[in-house]
Amino acid sequence: MAGTRGEFSSRLGFILAASGSAVGLGNIWGFPTQAASNGGAAFLLMYLLMAFLLAYPALMAELIIGRHAKANIVTALRQVSGNGLTRFIGSLTGFAGIITASLILAFYGIVAGWMIAFAAAPVAETVGAEGLASWLTDFGNERNLVFMLIFMLITSLIISGGVRNGIEKWSSRLMPMLLIILMGLIGYVLTLPGAMEGVKVYLLPDFSRSFNFQLIVNALGQAFFSLSLGVGTMLIYGSYISKKENIASLGRAITLIDIGIAALAGMLIIPAMYVAQHNGVEIFDAGGKLIAEDTLIFTVLPALFDTMGSTGVVIGFAFFVLMTIAALTSSISMLEAPVSYVCEVHGLSRRASSFLVSGTIAVISVLIALNFGDLFGLVINLTTRYAQPLLGLMLCIFAGWIWHRHQVLAEIKAGFEQAEQSLFWRIWPVYIRYVCPVAILTVFGQKVLG
Ligand code: TRP
Repeated sequence: MAGTRGEFSSRLGFILAASGSAVGLGNIWGFPTQAASNGGAAFLLMYLLMAFLLAYPALMAELIIGRHAKANIVTALRQVSGNGLTRFIGSLTGFAGIITASLILAFYGIVAGWMIAFAAAPVAETVGAEGLASWLTDFGNERNLVFMLIFMLITSLIISGGVRNGIEKWSSRLMPMLLIILMGLIGYVLTLPGAMEGVKVYLLPDFSRSFNFQLIVNALGQAFFSLSLGVGTMLIYGSYISKKENIASLGRAITLIDIGIAALAGMLIIPAMYVAQHNGVEIFDAGGKLIAEDTLIFTVLPALFDTMGSTGVVIGFAFFVLMTIAALTSSISMLEAPVSYVCEVHGLSRRASSFLVSGTIAVISVLIALNFGDLFGLVINLTTRYAQPLLGLMLCIFAGWIWHRHQVLAEIKAGFEQAEQSLFWRIWPVYIRYVCPVAILTVFGQKVLG
């Protein structure tokens, strides 16, 4: 068990894997659509604040606990607990995290399957298989199940390869591809007529909308989802960091990359919408608001690609490949949370654990897909609106109140000798003890009551 645990081969290996976890559909889909309907740069600004002031400290809590315990979330939270009661609460919190990660993967896998199907559609069209192309893009049980299963299988194959030969290897291949495709698409879209209007909408902040409470709530929720917090994915990635690394600077790098890619994705999606409008595609709904969420991705953008002729085929393909890559490096991190638990606590091999766990999650996905109207929105709400913030709160409590302060410091000092005199150590302990819990509770209360 302990002796055969994996470790990322280098600082860069961890950065690519953890930013792969962070950068996902939340960045390329969630962030731009939220920014578009919440005052453009005003939302970006608020998101920056929330990410640095609240999500980064919570991310650090997970990374530090993980690297200290060198274990999955259940074992780790038990290990930092001082007595029987807190150990029990640690187990409960850890289990809740693993279950939440699994449920998030269950709906994420369905959405990721759509991305693969939409990437395949332009290819089918090019070879003249019109019937196939419309099967790929029309909502249907068969299509949903087939592509969810393909996606889950790929995720599980990567995870069964282990930390270096699975997670790190694939993140290192996919993340540079993601960046290249994203930059290429931005470069192209910005040359098209109409794009500059989108850039203006995105970059000129509408401050009249930035200081309302709902916007803050949305920005914080988005930051927590985007940094993969609360469910033990960052904790388990943290557990694979070498003791030689400066963990505070690694956390900062992940936060910066996550924010950077979200901001870049805004430069793609929002201008693309205005190009679509220029080409005659409707981008405002009946109420005069920008079309967002799934209609934006699966209706507005494909309609835009259609107006672009043969270039549109290439662009459409590239766009949905980008989405698939973003989803995949995130889904492997979700699967790693329960798989590491089954491996380490129940002693199953990594291969067996990853197929067992991903098989179970696929069954849940099938149930969600077959009862789409009843379950899809419900599972998203339960996991991202309720479970994730509450679990984030618990992790802050473990790092700030339950775990001994000198042990926390000792862990940070490994790889960062001057930690005690650093700005980080002056601010973070107070943050994680008081500011984060109060802020999360405030936002959570608003969500539940509002
Ligand atoms: N952060 C990813 C995104 O932005 C999704 C993700 C990966 C996630 N692991 C997670 C979300 C754990 C919540 C919890 O799409």
